[in-house]
Amino acid sequence: MTSTNKKGRDAFASGLGAFAATLGSAIGLGNIWKFPFLTGSNGGAAFVLAYLLSVVLVGLPVLVAEHLIGRKMRLDAVHAYGAVVPKQGIWAAIGWAGLLSAFLIMAFYTDVAGWVFAYVFKSAVAAFGGKALGAGTFSSLAGGTWEPLAWQAGVLAMTSAIIALGVSRGIEKATKALMPLLLILLVICDIRALTLPGAFAGVDYLFKPDLSKITGSVLIAALGLSFFKLSLGMGTMTTYGSYLPDGTRIAPNAVRVALADTIVSLLAGLAIFPAVFAFGGQPAGGPGLLFNTIPLIFSRMPGGAFFTTIFFVLASVATIGAMVSLIEVPVAWMVEKGRVKRPVAACLTGTAMFALGTLATLSQSAVLGSVRLFGKGFFDLFDFVSSNVLLPIGALAIAVVAGWLLGRKPFEAELRKGHAAQPWHTKVILAFLRFVAPVLILVILLNGFGIIRL
Ligand code: TRP
Repeated sequence: MTSTNKKGRDAFASGLGAFAATLGSAIGLGNIWKFPFLTGSNGGAAFVLAYLLSVVLVGLPVLVAEHLIGRKMRLDAVHAYGAVVPKQGIWAAIGWAGLLSAFLIMAFYTDVAGWVFAYVFKSAVAAFGGKALGAGTFSSLAGGTWEPLAWQAGVLAMTSAIIALGVSRGIEKATKALMPLLLILLVICDIRALTLPGAFAGVDYLFKPDLSKITGSVLIAALGLSFFKLSLGMGTMTTYGSYLPDGTRIAPNAVRVALADTIVSLLAGLAIFPAVFAFGGQPAGGPGLLFNTIPLIFSRMPGGAFFTTIFFVLASVATIGAMVSLIEVPVAWMVEKGRVKRPVAACLTGTAMFALGTLATLSQSAVLGSVRLFGKGFFDLFDFVSSNVLLPIGALAIAVVAGWLLGRKPFEAELRKGHAAQPWHTKVILAFLRFVAPVLILVILLNGFGIIRL
């Protein structure tokens, strides 16, 4: 069902649709790929703890802020931030930086999404008696040239096509139908992994923090992941906020999204680390961790190749929901400007993202493998700059806009919608947006870059 709000913009049809679509943006490679991979390369439970704190103290308030500003302005991110404080169009910079982040993130995200789609294909071949997935499968895929590029192009073409069809129709339906299935499959993975001999070392690794492992770079990575996970700091959730119906209670919706999203990440961690330890692998296995571990877990079950295929099918659906929300930011901006129609905007954006994406993809292969900028290849650089620099700075600015500049009355009015009276949490969220979130982000950024020493 589609509906339109007063300005004739697209809108999510229902409260459940709003929840499902927000969650559809949040849940993606961040949960199943990035969370385990970063946890492994940042030493385990201490990182998980920092991440969880960051979700509650910073992520949640900023998610509320983005939805609130988006719904109040009923505009895409660039136009919304440009108009939120009268005569201070400078805040549109949040939206501009957001456009840049969308491109940087998509550049490496579509590479990884391509691996997921490739794994659907490869595990299906294995299920029908073809070549089984093995230790070399991931490295030869990711390190290849034409193969990962072809998958990446396919992924982008498909996502752009979905975007071209419109907001509520495409996103809501797929998410509502398939997310519960992903959850079930993750739980099956968890049960299998946790019952392997030696699995509990993995549970300890995930949940028994060694606080001495917390360093400036661990904190920045945890902060960046909390933004990346909840799609914050660059206007995705502002844009989605502009599609929220007035009846949606912004804060309770945000709490449910953050909770569900975190649960999915932890379930993914609970599948991967116990298995890594049981099989004697390396927790710091890097970007290949998911792709090397999941097939191993399923290989210990009857019908393993079949389940592996289903797993990657569901993962690819989750990935599409997240990518759609990333492409939606530049597309909504172009359409709002009124110069181009949705399908044209989607096509242009997809093509430009592919151009940048080839750099990320080829930086894993011999072609651009030796090119280094600031000591990093393109894939790592795009990831680092977006998650650890642009998203935190964007989130900081958004907290300031919502907490200090928007004005108390409009802030309260927006949070009250859908409630019978002004909800009690209004004051709490305002205090977090004014003080807690900006201070934490600033301190973690400055400390992480060595400008101050904690
Ligand atoms: N949250 C998504 C994930 O975890 C990725 C994503 C979608 C995103 N939109 C975003 C990340 C906006 C940062 C900003 O996979």
